This record gives sequence, C-alpha cells and structure tokens, in this order.
Amino acid sequence: MKQPDQEPGGIWREIKRSYSRVPPGDSPRSRVLRVSKTVWLHLHPPKVPRHSLRFGFTLGAGGISFLLFLVTVVTGVILMLFYRPTTEYAYADMKYLDFDVPFGMFNRNLHRWAAHAMVIMVWLHMARVLLTGSYKAPRQFNWVVGVILLTLTMLLSFTGYLLPWDQLSMWAVTVGTNMAAAAPFLGHEGPFASVLGVTAETDVRAALLGGSEVGAPALLRFYVLHCVILPLIMGALLILHFWRVRVDGGISGPLREKGR
Ligand code: HEM
Repeated sequence: MKQPDQEPGGIWREIKRSYSRVPPGDSPRSRVLRVSKTVWLHLHPPKVPRHSLRFGFTLGAGGISFLLFLVTVVTGVILMLFYRPTTEYAYADMKYLDFDVPFGMFNRNLHRWAAHAMVIMVWLHMARVLLTGSYKAPRQFNWVVGVILLTLTMLLSFTGYLLPWDQLSMWAVTVGTNMAAAAPFLGHEGPFASVLGVTAETDVRAALLGGSEVGAPALLRFYVLHCVILPLIMGALLILHFWRVRVDGGISGPLREKGR
C-alpha cells in the first residue's frame, strides 16, 4: 500500500489535511469555510463587495497607512539593535548607524520616510472618510477610534524627533514641549491651569520631560514612549479599528444603486 509521503505531493496533502479542518473543494461553501476557519485568511472577509475594491473610493489610504506602520515597526526594531537612549551615546549611535552599520543609513532613511508618508496617508485617509460621509452611523465609533489613531500617529512622529539627539531635535522638542506648557487645563501657562491646580512641576510638560528642560530624563521618556508605549496602544487600537470595519458592515460604499 502506498504511504502518503510516497505519492507526488502526498506529504503536503497530509500536512494540509491535518492543518485545515475544511473539506477540499471549490464550492462557495467550502471557500467561505476555508477563509473563516484559517487564522491568516480569517483577516480577510469571506465576501468582498465590489465597490470596496474600487481604488477611487478608498484611495487605498487606510491600507497604505497600515503598510507604512508595519514598515516603521520593522525598521524601528532594527534601529533599536544599534541605538542607546542616553545623552552620552545617542548621537554617536546615529553616526555609527549612518556610516558603519551595513545598510544602516538605508534602514534609518526607510524608517524616516515611511513615518513621513504615514502621516500624509493617515490625513488623506481621514479626509476620504470625511468626504465620502463614511463617519456617519453606524461607523461613528470607528471615526472616534480613528481620531485617537491620528493623535497617536502625530505623537509617534513627535517622540521620534528627539531620538537623534542633535540640535534640530533638541530645539524642536523644546518648542513643542513649551507649547504643551501653554495647553488649556494641562499646561501651567495655559488657560484654566488653576482649575486643575497644575504648576510648572506637575503639568504636561514636566510629565513629558521628566524635568523642566530637555535632558537625559526627557530622552529616556521619549524613547520608551516612541518604542514601547505608543506602538502598543496603536497596535491594540488598529485591531479594534479593523474589527469595527467588519462589524459595521464592511467598508462603506457609494449610495446603493438599484439591484446591487
Ligand atoms: C494609523 C492610522 C489608520 C489606519 C492604519 C487605518 C486603517 C483603515 C483601513 C485599512 C480601513 C478600511 C479601508 C479603507 O477605508 O481604506 C479603515 C476604515 C476606516 N477608518 Fe481608518 N485608519 C487609520 C486612521 C483613521 C482616522 C484618522 C480616521 C478618522 C478620524 C479613520 C476612520 C475610519 C473609518 C470611519 C473607517 C470606515 C470607512 C468606511 O467604511 O468607508 N481611520 N481604516
């Protein structure tokens, strides 16, 4: 009797059969089952309305934003292998990356350009959702999730700005955190600061900097925010965002035409 691994393709057929509980076949039912019972394919809806594939409607902006996020995560993790967030080493590590690490400059630039492009694409995605009216019920909750994602995207850019620890970083973050000190309620120089009783030692600028000026504690805080806290929150909210697209009935479409 023939063993499965002696047949052409037999071992692969056995692996497929032990992995997938779905009977083989090309019927609509087995296609849907294959998608919904396989963890990777599960990310795709079993059925995709034709309008949601129209590039002119979505501009692919949400998907491209996500792709760019993945690029920044992968290149960022590689950068972390060479970067130490201390005032003594940070700048020197950037130079080491630029001139000594193989593909270091390429990787650094890829990270930077993907981040810039992500900011543009997320704004574009928001504009498209606004202009197509896709924020309306039942998608209003996902719009709110989106607003938080936009804020996180901007915060990721801002916290990454300090890490090269050069003159541009220092002064950009000095300006940015001084602006935070003037924020309503949360900044000690802003309107209504007295309502919450915030002072120069307890306001949002002090929390960001770990002190009153850009120094070693600020570098460490920005590093942890940039590499751990913000990406984790972003990842969790992206899962929620994509799941909501599904439960809200898939990507919205142009107003339904007769017979669609
Ligand atoms: C990191 C940022 C973001 C990523 C990666 C992302 C990703 C996506 C993707 C892949 C989709 C489905 C396909 C598409 O419409 O292109 C989508 C839909 C949606 N997004 Fe975002 N998004 C982000 C930020 C935002 C922002 C800033 C808003 C609005 C403030 C928003 C609101 C929505 C809404 C309401 C939908 C459903 C649209 C519809 O059904 O037509 N998203 N998002």
